Amino acid sequence: MEKILIIDFGGQYNQLIARRVRECNVYCEVKPWTTPLAQLKAFDPIGIIFTGGPDSVYLDSSPTVDPEIFTWGVPILGVCYGCQLMAHLLGGQVVPAQDDSAREYGKTLTHYDAGCKLFQGLPQEGVSWMSHGDYMARVPDGFALTARSAACPNVAIADEARGFYGVQFHPEVSHTEHGVDMIRNFLRLACRASCGWTMGDYKNTAIARLRERIGGGNVLLALSGGVDSSVAAALLAEAVGPQLTCVFVDHGLMRLNEGDEVERAFAKWDLNFVRVDAETRFLLRLAGVDEPERKRKIIGGEFIRVFEEEAKKIGRVDFLAQGTIYPDVIESGAGEAAVIKSHHNVGGLPDYVDFKEIVEPLRMLFKDEVRQLGRELGLPEYLVSRQPFPGPGLAIRIIGDITKEKADMLRQADFIFREEMARAGEDKRLNQYFAVLTNTRSVGVMGDGRTYDYTLALRAVTTSDFMTADWARIPYELLDRVSGRIVNEVKGINRIVYDITSKPPATIEWE
Ligand code: XMP
Repeated sequence: MEKILIIDFGGQYNQLIARRVRECNVYCEVKPWTTPLAQLKAFDPIGIIFTGGPDSVYLDSSPTVDPEIFTWGVPILGVCYGCQLMAHLLGGQVVPAQDDSAREYGKTLTHYDAGCKLFQGLPQEGVSWMSHGDYMARVPDGFALTARSAACPNVAIADEARGFYGVQFHPEVSHTEHGVDMIRNFLRLACRASCGWTMGDYKNTAIARLRERIGGGNVLLALSGGVDSSVAAALLAEAVGPQLTCVFVDHGLMRLNEGDEVERAFAKWDLNFVRVDAETRFLLRLAGVDEPERKRKIIGGEFIRVFEEEAKKIGRVDFLAQGTIYPDVIESGAGEAAVIKSHHNVGGLPDYVDFKEIVEPLRMLFKDEVRQLGRELGLPEYLVSRQPFPGPGLAIRIIGDITKEKADMLRQADFIFREEMARAGEDKRLNQYFAVLTNTRSVGVMGDGRTYDYTLALRAVTTSDFMTADWARIPYELLDRVSGRIVNEVKGINRIVYDITSKPPATIEWE
């Protein structure tokens, strides 16, 4: 398999570089700069990318790489810090910018030399995204200057004979016009990549690897019904089905039909699917609790207990599988040396279950790739494109104390909201939406009678990272339809409000 090695020097856009390379249909992995050279070589890449980073290359303490890498005969693209590091290690000179004119930040009009492979077939002028405080006072021998801006004569450098390229800007960010094309040119023209890697290839390789690693061992997976654990389960089911046990704990705070949907989605595989109906015990533990953090702790703790009981019934567990995905791996800085990380949905699990090894079959995939793999494995679209759903489920969407009646009320109302949103096509546009049952009751009138029922809040947001979010502008007619249906169809709710707060200052969930 053709592979690109991305050496991570700590820049904020490093994950984006990996995503862009994979978008160009070439498999890549990000490894920290501290990875031993022998390991980097053993990865056997057809090309290498040095990422950006916040440091200055001329300081002794700064991240670096063994210059032996330049003797491998493998093309290298240095981005920002990576470009400066390449220049520094090959005999150029990098210095702090003395005045503002040499320090560049933001969108910069850049002129490219179309003769350079990196810019072949692209417009000769365009905006590039800069973010550097140092500049190359002298470029190494053998390098030509291949792009320039008003402030800087060497925005890009290249030694085409050796296949070394450096850019001071960030081709991976969308602000750089034709940035992806530059990356594709590096892959195709410099590394001679065929750009034919697909998720189907990945699936087959991953299945073969899992079979080899797991052998005759048995595997246990906590299936939450979320995208990551579902895709991990499907992949393992395809690889070692009969040796896999998926435990789906229904804590009674799932959305309408959720348990059935998950069970149905996995019916086609020959695996052990254990569905634990634990509604009564969870509701008993939650009775009278209204403080959000206590709800979370009780659910987390009880979840582990149920899971542990099920694991004991299975007996010996060789592998505990988790749906950890690539952004978690890169962010933890773990690279290949995995820090075992308990999954947020089932916090702390590994400490409580006796098993030999962890298996994380998605640890090299980005979220959208996980979804793609799920489709490739034949999981239904409603599971694959599912919105995030918190581990504690509806417990944190019922404000105040939780009862079965309230959970049923919210389940029905939430279902109507989601159904109408999907019917109106809003599900494609919005990132998350759901209903919240408040603990406010108010007076209403229905038919000829007085009601004193609950207020339901509708929440819908757009967001790219869930760290910040904007409340969604959805049509009044749609709100009207949802409101009308809920008060008519769900007994116990007589008033609907729409949440128009963004995050911050609010959070997406109410608790
Ligand atoms: P907040 O409410 O913090 O939510 O703005 C951000 C995103 O995280 C989800 N969320 C959770 N996910 N366990 C989870 O697995 C939780 O306890 C939890 N709380 C919030 C939330 O749905 C949103 O997508």
